[in-house]
Amino acid sequence: MKHEVIEKNIGLMIILIIVALSFGTLVELVPLIFGKQVREPIAGLKPLPALELEGRDIYIREGCNVCHSQMIRPLRAETERYGHYSVAGESVYNHPFLWGSKRTGPDLARVGKRYSDDWHRAHMYNPRDVVPESNMPGFPWLFENEIDAGRTPLKMAALRKVGVPYTDEDISGASAAVAGKTEIEALIAYLQQLGTLLQSRR
Ligand code: HEC
Repeated sequence: MKHEVIEKNIGLMIILIIVALSFGTLVELVPLIFGKQVREPIAGLKPLPALELEGRDIYIREGCNVCHSQMIRPLRAETERYGHYSVAGESVYNHPFLWGSKRTGPDLARVGKRYSDDWHRAHMYNPRDVVPESNMPGFPWLFENEIDAGRTPLKMAALRKVGVPYTDEDISGASAAVAGKTEIEALIAYLQQLGTLLQSRR
């Protein structure tokens, strides 16, 4: 039995296991490395403007991604509820990405424009005012905190280093764009653009 030879020779078995795992890894990885589709931004995608970028950081700071995914799977039940499934080219400028899989609340990948700004304000202040059965926490402090405008250009410059195509004008105008804005304004600006690029072409 040829198999017995392998099973009784641990050195040979280790080598063959490495060969088998490497092959599997390559089959998974190589198409992603060379596939343009997963690295190219979809048509019309732009890096987040200053206010939306600050909103995204608040989203991360407050742990919104702990309860909300931003990844619509290509399954009928998901696309009927949330809209067009998520594609890789939508999140090429996101560092880190916020796809997730934990859904205590609904997926937010295409929540942009689904509700008015006023709805979001009421919902963020106290979710039960608009959705009585909600168990989402309120975030009243976002209505008082102001954005630290001094840090926005630095964040953009850092993102540019990892490939997000911010221009010099984007960066030099960033502080002015967020100066005096509250955190809730930034967060809602961020939410309102989520997934709208593909949504409008549906
Ligand atoms: C403890 C879990 C939890 C956290 C943390 C959380 N949410 Fe929610 N969220 C929910 C649940 C549950 C719902 C569904 C009930 C409702 O609409 O309030 C929801 C609903 C929403 C909706 C409405 C979505 C829709 O399609 O109807 C938005 C927008 C939203 N959350 C944004 C946020 C943002 C922004 C944050 C962070 C500031 C956040 N959530 C934090 C649990 C959470």
